Amino acid sequence: MATLVTGGAGYIGSHTVAALHDAGRDVVILDDFSNAARRAVDAIRSLTRPDLPLVEGDGGDPATLEAVFGGHRIESVVHFAARKSVAESVADPLGYYRSNLGSVVALAAAAIDRGVPRLVFSSSATVYGSASALPVTEDSPTVPENPYGETKLMGERILADAAAASEMSVILLRYFNPVGAHPSGLIGEDPSGEPANLVPRIMQVATGRSDRLEVFGADYSSVDGTAVRDYVHVMDLAEGHVAALDAGIAPARSRTYNLGTGSGTTVLQVLAAAAEVIGSPIPYEMAERRPGDVEASWADCTRAREELGWQARRDLTQMLADHWNFVRRHPDGYRH
Ligand code: WQD
Repeated sequence: MATLVTGGAGYIGSHTVAALHDAGRDVVILDDFSNAARRAVDAIRSLTRPDLPLVEGDGGDPATLEAVFGGHRIESVVHFAARKSVAESVADPLGYYRSNLGSVVALAAAAIDRGVPRLVFSSSATVYGSASALPVTEDSPTVPENPYGETKLMGERILADAAAASEMSVILLRYFNPVGAHPSGLIGEDPSGEPANLVPRIMQVATGRSDRLEVFGADYSSVDGTAVRDYVHVMDLAEGHVAALDAGIAPARSRTYNLGTGSGTTVLQVLAAAAEVIGSPIPYEMAERRPGDVEASWADCTRAREELGWQARRDLTQMLADHWNFVRRHPDGYRH
């Protein structure tokens, strides 16, 4: 029996495949490589098993799902595959709703038809929008501020309703800001196109692919005026998915968990930690706030600790050291 990991060639997906393998679980990867390199699967296989099964295709396509569920004995599903660019979702909302929600509906229907008892869904802290009170709990108001965030919140609701009408149980994981890479340096974040996230942009400066970092906003009410986020190691996130698959959630039920560290870090603090790890200063300049950014966001992860027995174990220095270790070996990602 195997765990199906959709988007398993992607950043968090690939690390979750590694964590599932280390936990002794068989895995089948489903990926259409629209936002991941085929070489990522070679890297994952070098970390896990050379014959790790891969189905290439779109999780929203019935023929692909037939190939997956007809060709493998699937006992659980972890669903990562989704388009995830905030900016792109604003430009192409219907494309995001069709793609991200279409695959949620098709995958849940196929899993329920085949009696799969557990599905874990990759959601995001972006569902909270400009969170009112901090730290953010699972009961904080969910007010997404872009179509991408809406697809994550709607995906949660679709899956909760599907679970309630079936024997499947669903766990919804809301990640904060994933950073880092597998300690081997063999797998990591391989942003396609121009990355928007802070740490990949810092790494671009460190590898000379851009000459300086723009710090978006210096007038926030934080210790140094720059925005605050809850950065969490991708291996901690991966282990959170393993814990979610093992969680004792009753059939027909769904449950939401924040996955973060519970502490906030400013942009300048990340920059300073990165310079320490990389061993050279990261040139930067202050710039205007980025539209849509929230001032501060960090998680209350009490529920995951108490109910899943999960908490983040790796600190910011470890995140940046592991991220840098992958980028040094793959300055252009998996493509070279
Ligand atoms: C972090 C901080 C920026 C780049 C996004 C998505 C969210 C989730 C995680 C998928 C902010 C600042 C950034 C730069 C900067 N992804 N920054 N200069 O925006 O918190 O969350 O990624 O689920 O959906 O919205 O992450 O890394 O883009 O930004 O100053 O060149 O770094 O303003 O304060 P964000 P981020």
